[in-house]
Amino acid sequence: MFYVSCSMRVVSGIQPSGQIHIGNYLGAIKQWISLQEKNECVFFVADLHSLTVPYEPKELQNKIIEKVIAYIAAGLDPEKSIIFVQSQVKEHTELCWMLNTVCPIGELERMTQFKEKSKKFKNNINAGLFNYPVLMAADILLYKAHAVPVGKDQEQHVELVRSIAKKFNQKFGETFPEPKSMLPKIGAKIMSLADPKKKMSKSDDPKSYISLFDEPEDIQKKIMSSQTDSGKDVIYNITKKPGISNLIVIYGLLADKTTEEIEKQFKGKNYSEFKKSLSKTVIEYLEPFRRKQKELLLRDVYVKEILNKGKLRAENIAQTTIQEARKKMGLE
Ligand code: TYM
Repeated sequence: MFYVSCSMRVVSGIQPSGQIHIGNYLGAIKQWISLQEKNECVFFVADLHSLTVPYEPKELQNKIIEKVIAYIAAGLDPEKSIIFVQSQVKEHTELCWMLNTVCPIGELERMTQFKEKSKKFKNNINAGLFNYPVLMAADILLYKAHAVPVGKDQEQHVELVRSIAKKFNQKFGETFPEPKSMLPKIGAKIMSLADPKKKMSKSDDPKSYISLFDEPEDIQKKIMSSQTDSGKDVIYNITKKPGISNLIVIYGLLADKTTEEIEKQFKGKNYSEFKKSLSKTVIEYLEPFRRKQKELLLRDVYVKEILNKGKLRAENIAQTTIQEARKKMGLE
């Protein structure tokens, strides 16, 4: 992660699909929490993005609220950060349309995530899935963000956002800063517990990830049965031992230990002893998150208030930018 001394505008979001897991936390949310101390932060639930793959409309509102609760339970402070739901600020979709007209199709065709999702959802390759990164560009540029804290899988999308900003500025005059993605040095790509060659993903089997609110027994079960390589030494080697290396990364980040310290601590011990210790660490780390979540689940009105306030604060910035962009494009 890079640190800057002066305040900057920071934007990021998470889709409401599936459950927030430790990959999302270590790749994105953990950075958000430290960034909110000194920067102007805008964090939202990307509900419009989640419409691009099959979903259950009746469940969407609950899933959105669940994510807002997860943000706060994990440490986002609504007094410091602007927290809201993407679709409630209409300027996101308006700017998305405008940016569609400066984004070349060829650049969208190159996106790895589009290629992967088109394979996974063969019967639903909709235009929204294709234009997904343009909506991300609108999310980011609407707030004139400088930094976008995300995991590795979103890096390519943020690169495209830079390119869209540059094209818009060239065509219509300097308007948007070119935002940079901000990846944590360690933990930008946490791997699946079931298959350490694949990224941990909300849309996979729950056994493959640890949700922020999993009960202690489930955390223990998932870690103890996670796929590890043959051999018994607790040593970091990403090519030869991807399973144990992924667990070492998680352990290090949650226990605040370096790889060397962990290797030394478990010298002469086997995987099972290491996994037991990791389970304990994860359970203890997530305990306050579970407690806070239970409290917030009973405070419906409070959560809605946060979202209403967040929407107003976000709109305030969004409306100024959209007016500027409309003028520059000749719409006013
Ligand atoms: P989403 O919902 O897939 O993921 C949310 C955040 O979690 C990170 N992440 C991971 N980090 C480390 N290891 C993993 N296994 C892992 N899996 C996911 C993601 O990189 C992301 O930061 N398109 C975005 C949401 C979005 C957005 C935006 C983000 C919409 N508009 C504007 C930033 C700015 C997405 O689907 O994230």
